Amino acid sequence: MELPKDKKVIKTRHNKVVYDCGDTVAKVFNATKPPADVFNEALNLARADQAGIDVPQLIEVSKVDGSWALVTKKVAGKTMRDLADEDPSKLDDVMKDFVKLQLDVHQHRNDLMNRQKDKYTRMINSVTEVLDESTRYDLLMRLDGMPNHQKICHGDFVPSNVIVREDGTACICDWAHASQGDGSADCAVSYLHFKLNGQDDFAESYLKTYCELQGTTVEYVSQWFPIVAAAELARGRVVEKDFLLSWISVGDYE
Ligand SMILES: Nc1ncnc2c1ncn2[C@@H]1O[C@H](COP(=O)(O)OP(=O)(O)O)[C@@H](O)[C@H]1O
Ligand SMILES: [Mg+2]
Repeated sequence: MELPKDKKVIKTRHNKVVYDCGDTVAKVFNATKPPADVFNEALNLARADQAGIDVPQLIEVSKVDGSWALVTKKVAGKTMRDLADEDPSKLDDVMKDFVKLQLDVHQHRNDLMNRQKDKYTRMINSVTEVLDESTRYDLLMRLDGMPNHQKICHGDFVPSNVIVREDGTACICDWAHASQGDGSADCAVSYLHFKLNGQDDFAESYLKTYCELQGTTVEYVSQWFPIVAAAELARGRVVEKDFLLSWISVGDYE
C-alpha cells in the first residue's frame, strides 16, 4: 500500500514511525522488525476486539516501501497522557479513570490470547547476556509459583495508549504486548513504566489506587516486579539496564 502524501508523523521511535493518514493511523516498522511480531500485534488487537474491548478498528497489515505496517482506523480524541499534560490539576481524576479502565480490560476474556506465563518465560530465557543462569532460574521459579489467571492484560497499559473521545469514552491502542494472565502483573508493568519515566509520585499513587480499587495489596503486586523488570530487559532497554537490574535483585517491595 502507499501512504498519502499529506500524512503527518505522530511519533518516531528507533524501530518504527507512526503516521496520521487522515482516516487511518499507520504504524510502519523498520525492515528489521520480524513480520511475526507485526502479525502478532494485529492478532492481539483483533482478539481484544473480539473480547469486546473498545479498540481501534483493524484495517490492514501490509507492506509500505518494503516495510511491514499495521493500519488502524483513526480514533478522534486525545490520549490520557495529553489530557494529564494539558491540565495537571486533573491528574488525579485522569489517573482514577486510567485505573478503572485497566480493571475493566481485566474483566474481559479470550482463550486464544497468548498466555502471560509463556510470554514471560520466553522473555526471561532470552536475556542470557545480562542475567546469569541462576538468576534466570530464580525468576522462572518465582513465575511458576504465581497464580494462574485468565484476565486480558494489555501489557503496556500507559496513558499514551488510551485515546479519550470527546464523548468521554476511551479506546485502547497498541496491543503488541497483550496476554491473558494476572492483572497484578499488568499493574506491575504500568508501575515500572512510571518509575522508568521518573514519575515517582505518580507511580506510587497509581499503585495505591490500583490496589484499592482491585482489592489487592502492594505486597502482592510487588512479587511481579522482578519478573516484569526482567521482561523489560528482554525488550532491549539498554538505557535503563542498571535500573532494571536493581529491580531484579529486589526481593520484596520496600
Ligand atoms: N487508531 C488510532 N487512532 C488515533 N491515534 C492513534 C491510533 N493508533 C495510534 N495512535 C496514536 O499514536 C501513538 C503511537 O501509537 P502506538 O500504537 O501506541 O505505538 P507505540 O508502540 O510506538 O507506542 C499513540 O500513543 C496514539 O497517540
Ligand atoms: Mg503506545
